[in-house]
Order: sequence, then structure tokens, then C-alpha cells
Amino acid sequence: MINDKLPKLWYGGDYNPEQWDAATMEEDIRMFKLANIDIATVNVFSWAAIQPSEDTYDFSRLDSIIERLTQDNIYICLATSTAHHPAWMAHRYPDVTRVDYEGRKRKFGGRHNSCPNSPTYRKYSVELASRLAERYSSHEGLVVWHISNEYGGYCYCDNCAEAFRGWLKERYQTIEALNKAWYTSFWGHTFYDWAEIVPPNAISEEWAGNRTNFQTISLDYRRFQSDSLLVCFKLEYDAIRQHSKDVQITTNLMGTYPELDYFKWGKAMDVVSWDNYPSLDTPFSFTAMSHALMRGLKGGQPFMLMEQTPSQQNWQPYNSLKRPGVMRLWSYQGVAHGADTVMFFQLRRSIGACEKYHGAVIEHVGHEHTRVFREVTELGNELVKLGDELLDSRHQSKVGIVYDWENRWALDLTSGPTIDLKYVDQVHRYYDAFFKHNIQADMISVEEQFDKYEIVVAPVMYMVKPGFAEKVEAFVAGGGTFITTFFSGIVNENDIVTIGGYPGELRKVLGIWAEEIDALLPSQSNEIVMNEQYGKLNGTYSCNILCDLIHSEGAEVLATYGTDFYKGMPTLTRNAFGKGDAWYVATNGDDAFLSDLVETIIDQRGIKPLVEPVAGVEVTERVKGEHRYLFVLNHNAEEAKVNLGDIAGVDLLTDREVSGEVQVPQKGVMIIKR
Ligand code: GLA
Ligand code: ZN
Repeated sequence: MINDKLPKLWYGGDYNPEQWDAATMEEDIRMFKLANIDIATVNVFSWAAIQPSEDTYDFSRLDSIIERLTQDNIYICLATSTAHHPAWMAHRYPDVTRVDYEGRKRKFGGRHNSCPNSPTYRKYSVELASRLAERYSSHEGLVVWHISNEYGGYCYCDNCAEAFRGWLKERYQTIEALNKAWYTSFWGHTFYDWAEIVPPNAISEEWAGNRTNFQTISLDYRRFQSDSLLVCFKLEYDAIRQHSKDVQITTNLMGTYPELDYFKWGKAMDVVSWDNYPSLDTPFSFTAMSHALMRGLKGGQPFMLMEQTPSQQNWQPYNSLKRPGVMRLWSYQGVAHGADTVMFFQLRRSIGACEKYHGAVIEHVGHEHTRVFREVTELGNELVKLGDELLDSRHQSKVGIVYDWENRWALDLTSGPTIDLKYVDQVHRYYDAFFKHNIQADMISVEEQFDKYEIVVAPVMYMVKPGFAEKVEAFVAGGGTFITTFFSGIVNENDIVTIGGYPGELRKVLGIWAEEIDALLPSQSNEIVMNEQYGKLNGTYSCNILCDLIHSEGAEVLATYGTDFYKGMPTLTRNAFGKGDAWYVATNGDDAFLSDLVETIIDQRGIKPLVEPVAGVEVTERVKGEHRYLFVLNHNAEEAKVNLGDIAGVDLLTDREVSGEVQVPQKGVMIIKR
């Protein structure tokens, strides 16, 4: 449990009463009680109010906010306010503001804007965290700490440059080792002295955000900036821990956000929390994958759904309203995948600045007679009814899908072979194929234990880090099924090609080697032609983006290319290796191909779907002790009939016994306990 003071799915969200007068706050609290809201995230953006000048701290407003909320049993998620610095700080200490990608020194403005290597920022953010912890750690209302907010963005200032050199010295020890790793013999970029090294951005090695002359320099800068922000988090973490011994500490992450290596971050957090902002047309399996990824950061531990909008965002190009029932459905989707809280941004809409059109529990009209408030209240009642039932329940997945931020960076930065290869999309395509078969999958890091799973999929495993190939070999030899795709096994952790034939270190387990890689124009496609029916795989499928021209060196060839000069070369192979098998998918097959591939493999392994798949109906299971909780989520706009097979139990939301064929209303949810 995140904190047993509040043993239920926490319900509430970001609350900014500093924007309002005391009478408004009274009204808010009255309405929070109506909706069964029991947690407020406060103090997210109040640094300027708490520290109006360098030597003054004033906690009086925060004291009264916390007191008032606690009086009415609304618990506190206490933020440290360090996601933006006060104006006086930027004015007096220029090291606080960042230098941007174009090399421009930023002035005061925006948020998430402090240089992570600024001595001033570090000093004062730690000081603030420490004072907050000293003051509030024993407060009865406090249930969780929330450091900063949505860490992100990079800085290219001189302090960062200096810290980067220090980081590099630690990583490479000698300038010779750095030159080797960075491959600086290319274009005569040899460094003779650490002092010559500058950050890669638009005024040095990079352009357009992810184009670079030297992939390894750019890769290392991403690692370094992610680490720098993580140091800021850890400094505040330690400062809080000095005073607050047992309240858990988090910071809110952002799903597949590209800039930070969240698997590293997860290790430093007590509990993961994240902000979920799909748009109306985001595939719901993508949201499911994002939840699973956040759950994966701490090896399956439940996480906090820290933010979602009750109705609409403001920052998307088209900020559609969540249709009736959708807020509830998407909230339970989070819970289904491991969230132990349901929280919103925000509880009351602001009336000025850029978020005034962002949805909130309390809308501009100011009263409770709105659709949004009614839906929030209905969900609040249900969460009270669910009590502590689902808390801490876990997932037991047979499939692990590897996701790796460094691999993503390397792929984003690579020059060639195509601009159409998008790592996250590729991972999602495989996640989605299992998802549509009602096979639950975990999202795992390259460091995760593989033998927990029957099937491990590592789409586009371009970068193979030390030990990874051995781990795959041991997993497969022990009986596991491993699947990887085109453009895998190409480089090591420094983005240096493993010579001797692709897929490099994975060649042995896969029993193939790739000679060339063809990039297809957007208008082109090729074919995957099955030699004969194999499981569900049969006939011809379409493929595009990249085609690896591979040779078998022991693997069984199941399909070959249908056209072009490499017609007849293998495109799908399966290599028996020890007690298991390793599959190579040499191209980007269409949806029908992926669906048939997944079905073939799960059939072969005897893995059964949770229940028979129905289009648009999502099914996930959480387990606690001897109880199993089956979530059935109907994303369709019409009622769905779902056959529960031999599952029978009680729907916790209606208390009805259910079994056999059940009707799930449009956008409806069932949580079946057995
Ligand atoms: C992020 C931030 C919030 C708010 C919301 C709006 O998640 O953390 O402060 O800006 O976006 O969607
Ligand atoms: Zn900086």
C-alpha cells in the first residue's frame, strides 16, 4: 500500500487554491466531499509564494491550505514546487536558466525550465524540499511526497558542458577510450583534451532535434541530461528523507516520454506515478501499453495515476471532450493495469493563463450541476465501494515486451536506413497484437528477469548491450520463446556496429544472418509469402518500411519475400535452440501477419487468452492472494457480448454474480472477482 492512512484507491488530484480566495476554497471542499474526493496534490507551483525573496520563506498560506483540507479528511500529496524557479532567482542568478538547443540563453519564463546543473537551482530546490519536509513530515494529512513536476527538457549551458565532461571522465576514464567509443577518427574529430568537448546541439553536432553527425556523442548527452535531472530528483529525495522517514516519494512521469530513461528513474522512486493524456483517437491499446510500461518501471509494483483530465486537455491541437462514460472507463483502464489511485489534473479550472481551457472537476460555472461533476461523483462513489479490495494486487503475465530508452535514442538518432522507422510504434504493434488476443503483456527493461515469462519480444532491438545476448540465449535454451525483428543486433551500447554480420551478438540464437537492409519508399511494399501453412500463418501478407536480406544458418525458413531482387530470400524464421525457439521477423509485416504470428506462437505454447477476444473489449487481470480480478472494459460505442468461458464471480461494481455470456454496456466496465 502506498500509505495505509488511506486504504482505498485514492481519488482527487492537482489543486491550486493559491489562485483563489478562502470562500472559493470552502465551496471547493464542499464539492470535494460530494464527489468523495479524498486526496489533493498541493503546492505544485508555489515556489514564488513560499520563497518571495532569497532570504524569506513564508509557509503561512500552505499551512492553512493543508490544515483546511485535512480538517475535512482530504489527504495531501505534497509537491515540492521545484518545477519552475521564482523570477527573483532567474534575475539574480543567471546560472538557473537554461541554454536551449539553438544555443540561446533563456530568460525567465515557462516552467520545467531550470538548468539541472545550476548550483543555484540545486541549492535552493534542496533547501525548499528540506524545509517542507521538516515542516510537514509528521502532519497527519500527508500521504505521499511529489517532487517537482514532469521532469524533462535538456540544457546546453556552460555548467552542463562542464558537468558533461565530468560525466564522460567517469564513463570513459581516458580521452583515448572516449575517442574510440565516439568513433572520432571519422571526419577528424579526435579530442586531445576533455576541455575541447562541447554539448551536441544545433550549434555543434546536431540539427532538427535528432539529426546528428556523431550518434554516440548525442546518445551520451541524452544519458547525461537524464542523469542530471535524476540527480536533482535524488537530492530532493535525500533532503526529504532526512525528516520524513516513512512517507513514500514520487515524481510524475509521462509514459513513453522520450527524454528520460525512466527505467533508471523508477529505481530511484518509492512509487511510480504518471500523467495520462490520451487524445480521443489514441488507440486504447497504446494507453494500455503506457500503463504497463509505468508498472514495469518497478517490476510490476502498482503505480499512481497522478493526472488525467476529467474532460479535455488544452494543449493538444484538438481538445475533444471525453464522451460520457469515457472518463470512468479510462480511469478503470489505469486501475486494470496497476494504478492504485485515480487522480485528475485539475480539481478547479483556473481562469487565467494557458490552462484555463483545461478540463477540471469544478468547471468555470463553479457549481456541481455539470455533466463532468456528475460523472466524477459517480466514479467517486464506486471507488469508496471498492475500498481496499484491489490495492496491491499484481499481474501475472506470460509475455514480456522489452522497451529500452537508450535503444530508442539510438534509433531516433541513426542516420539511415529510413526515417519511417519509429521505435515506439514498432513496440506498440507487437503489444497490440497480443492485446487483441486478450493476452496480457508486461513491459520490461533489458535488465528484467526473462525466465518469469514464456515469451519475450524485443522489437527492433537495434542496440544490444553487454550481457543481453547471453541472457536471451539462456532464456531460449531454458525453453523460452524469443521474438525479434529487422534492424536488430546492429550496434553495441556505444552505437558502434558489431562486425561479422547482423544481427551481431544475436546471430547465434536466431540462426540467421543479415547481409543487407533495404528501405522501402512510403509508396512501396513487399510480401511475406509463407512456404506452407504454419499454425495460423498462411498465404501472403504485405510488408513495408525495412526489409532485411537474410540467410538462414540453421533456422527454419517459414516465409520468403514475394517480390523484388530478393524474392525468395527468408523473411520469417524460427530457430530451435535448446528447449526453446527464437523467431526473426525480417520486415514490418501488416496487422494480419502480426495477428497470425501471435496466434501461432501462443497456440504453440498453449497460452490461452483470459477470455475469448471481442473487438473493442479490453480484458486484464490483477491477482491478490487467492483472488483474481478480471477487468472487462468495453471501449465500443455499443453494448458488447463477452463470453466469460469458465470464469464466474461477482462484479464488484454491481454486486451481481456473473458467468457465461455477459452484456457489457457501451463504455462499460466490469470487475469480476473470483
Ligand atoms: C501536465 C502538468 C500539469 C498540467 C497538465 C495539463 O501533466 O503536470 O501541471 O499542466 O499537464 O494537461
Ligand atoms: Zn545547463
